[in-house]
Amino acid sequence: MKSLIDKLERENTLSKEEWITLLESKIDTEYLFERARKVQSENYGNDVYIRGLIEISNYCKNDCLYCGIRCSNKNVKRYRLTKEEILSCCKNGYELGFRTFVLQGGEDKFYTDDLMCDIIKSIKKNHPDCAITLSIGEKTKETYQKYKNAGADRYLLRHETADKKHYQSLHPEKMSFENRQKCLFDLKEVGFQVGCGFMVGSPYQTSETLAKDMLFIKKLNPHMVGIGPFISQKDSPFKDMKNGSADKTLIFVALLRLMLPNALLPATTALGTLLEDGREKGILAGANVVMPNLSPKFAKENYTLYDNKLSTGCEEASHLLELKKRIEKIGYKIVISRGDYKERRK
Ligand code: 5AD
Repeated sequence: MKSLIDKLERENTLSKEEWITLLESKIDTEYLFERARKVQSENYGNDVYIRGLIEISNYCKNDCLYCGIRCSNKNVKRYRLTKEEILSCCKNGYELGFRTFVLQGGEDKFYTDDLMCDIIKSIKKNHPDCAITLSIGEKTKETYQKYKNAGADRYLLRHETADKKHYQSLHPEKMSFENRQKCLFDLKEVGFQVGCGFMVGSPYQTSETLAKDMLFIKKLNPHMVGIGPFISQKDSPFKDMKNGSADKTLIFVALLRLMLPNALLPATTALGTLLEDGREKGILAGANVVMPNLSPKFAKENYTLYDNKLSTGCEEASHLLELKKRIEKIGYKIVISRGDYKERRK
């Protein structure tokens, strides 16, 4: 299906029918990845941005069927980081060369708006040259505005799936498909750099739901898109479901690069969990971001979204050096920079 890949590269969009045709065809991945790398290098050269991930809490009020930290999982040792612990992760990360910190966590009421804003302001005070990304779930527009006013720059909220029925099959009844999408548009209106995303190979996913994902992402036009394979978690209702495929995830990274040429696309932890060289392969398929984990050991051990979650801790300089070498080996380089979204050059 070279012609559809070429069309996507040329026009940055396909119709729903074209997406389905493309997704159901045998894709020449060598060709696809080569086109994706070309577009990536036109926009970002050989630069790879790093984000320091800090998993602030594994308490969550939600009960997503796929997730290991869902509220009804009684086998999780729950923890939350204090403001001081978060600031200390940032200080360590800053010294290592990180200029973006991603605070990610379950939906945890402990972090009131006031506390979150205080944490954001303190990080900005200590590290004014750094960007702050939040990934703490669905909030009201007012709360998002408060985070923004406090100095947060970016927000990640995966849309999970753009098909309502599929969404309902992955989430309990009381979670709202409409509200999740509304949050993403609110975040944009508030002025965040916004990231959405989905799992590849989640239960009940079809070419049609995936086509809808691509159309939704096109419409939202986010700055970032995070995708990774679904990986089953032993305590969750989806414990016996098949894992998503790493190869299919790589195909979607490349397709996203062609659809959104200047997006920030991470080679995600889930991809690195399924493939030893998943991050390198992600970059070679068009990704330009990696997110090493800066969380303290006890947090990393218990932030168990899925089984065998990779923990490329970069809290130690030696680990970061190792990652740098791996990226250089494939012809790219990690840069010390906030790594903001770049408007299109051509
Ligand atoms: N496999 C892969 N990804 C998962 N996530 C949650 N549970 C799993 C799983 N079992 C992803 C979701 C969520 C993000 C933080 O992690 O897409 O938005």
